[in-house]
Amino acid sequence: MRINGIVLAAGQGKRMKSKLYKVLHPVCGKPMVGHVVDVLDRLDCERRVVVVGHGAEKVQEALSGRTEFALQEQQLGTGHAVLQAKELLGEAEGMTFVLYGDTPLIREESLREMIGMAEREGTAAVVLTAEMENPFGLGRILRDEAGALIGIVEEKDCTPEQAQIREINTGIYCFENRKLFAALGKVTNQNAQGEYYLTDVISILRESGEKVAVYRTPDWTEGIGVNDRAALSEAEAIMKARINRKHMLNGVSIQDPAATYIEADVVIGADTRILPGTVLRGKTEIGEDCLIGPNADIQDSTVQDGAEIKHSVLTEAIVGRLATVGPFAYLRPGAKLGEKVKVGDFVEIKNATLGDNSKVSHLSYVGDAVVGQNVNMGCGSITVNYDGFNKHLTEIGDDAFVGSNVNLIAPVKIGKGAFVVAGSTITKDVEDDAIAIARERQVTKPGYASKLRARLKK
Ligand code: UD1
Ligand code: CA
Repeated sequence: MRINGIVLAAGQGKRMKSKLYKVLHPVCGKPMVGHVVDVLDRLDCERRVVVVGHGAEKVQEALSGRTEFALQEQQLGTGHAVLQAKELLGEAEGMTFVLYGDTPLIREESLREMIGMAEREGTAAVVLTAEMENPFGLGRILRDEAGALIGIVEEKDCTPEQAQIREINTGIYCFENRKLFAALGKVTNQNAQGEYYLTDVISILRESGEKVAVYRTPDWTEGIGVNDRAALSEAEAIMKARINRKHMLNGVSIQDPAATYIEADVVIGADTRILPGTVLRGKTEIGEDCLIGPNADIQDSTVQDGAEIKHSVLTEAIVGRLATVGPFAYLRPGAKLGEKVKVGDFVEIKNATLGDNSKVSHLSYVGDAVVGQNVNMGCGSITVNYDGFNKHLTEIGDDAFVGSNVNLIAPVKIGKGAFVVAGSTITKDVEDDAIAIARERQVTKPGYASKLRARLKK
């Protein structure tokens, strides 16, 4: 069965009170409309059309390459919005889902149930409904005595009895595509809001002898439409819980899910433990058997099996197997740590590779550097990579030892196995196996301390 999808996203979203266009507000790190398009992707939709209006350019930019677009210049109602896709989809075969760009919690499972229902029963439309405690503002589902769907009535058009109904229209539908567009041609704007209601398609189809049906989701939250920031935080909380649960069922331990924030596209291997205060963002991938947190903030990074990250911030970094990072380390873009590397407290690494088993244990800055294997960078040693105009490279060979508080003024090379004495400021290359000292020789004057004190007292 061929499947298409139409996503309505032309409304303004005034109640968000935001400069950012509504459907672009992120939920768990991804714009709401992005979540909706993801679900259509997972259903292997042939064609996806997003109906844009307010903020059209920004929405197109955010989804570029992923969908087709239809422009709804004036927002004359949901029926009118779907009609804008007619030029692109009007003749398409198969079924068409209609979804909203502001319902990020919609689940693939429910859409599959709807497809199954349409196939089994040969319906022209399946409406996704939910039972709500507080149905305020939403369209109500009208059924006959036998429970069959008759139609949908908007709250503003409800009789007092109809307003008591708690089964609501989520606004998500699965239509037989050609029948949808044929029925849309018959929708008028004769109602309380003077809008072209997509909901009228249901009664139009039914009256022309087509079968229409309801799939009532057991999870009412998936129909939540985000109209303001309160609903946005509600959606965030629900999606966060779903994401955490998915990882836990895949074998990841999350000690305190309420204090763990994992964005939608993050991948985590089994037997990894996540401690409180951890935020995993973007395209981050964590391997198996890792220990992440407490308080790790990791963005667009790869952490390989068995690594540990404590109280640290990582952005576009790669951490090798069994490496340890933190507490209080900062790995910036281009930081690449090999296997069993140790990066300790108050260390910053930027655009630098550290070979296997190397250690930068305390208080260092390593930027624009290629560091070999088994290198020890002493406490407080730094690369001096920037002269105010350009960045320069520091290279350090395997097995080198860089003493505490050393300045390596780039561009500079430290040879394999070389030894740089503590406190040195190195400006010239050091060859393999050499010792380099670049500091004043020490002078010690025995007994001078009491003489000095006596003089100062006078
Ligand atoms: C609609 C349904 C209602 C349902 C509710 C669920 C109709 C007539 N009513 O309500 O039964 O309970 O959704 O949330 O369909 N949009 C456009 N262009 C338009 C109008 C709307 O793109 O001209 C988009 C909006 O951006 C939004 C979505 O359609 O994403 C829903 O619009 P909204 O005004 O929130 O829905 P209602 O009409 O109130
Ligand atoms: Ca709405």
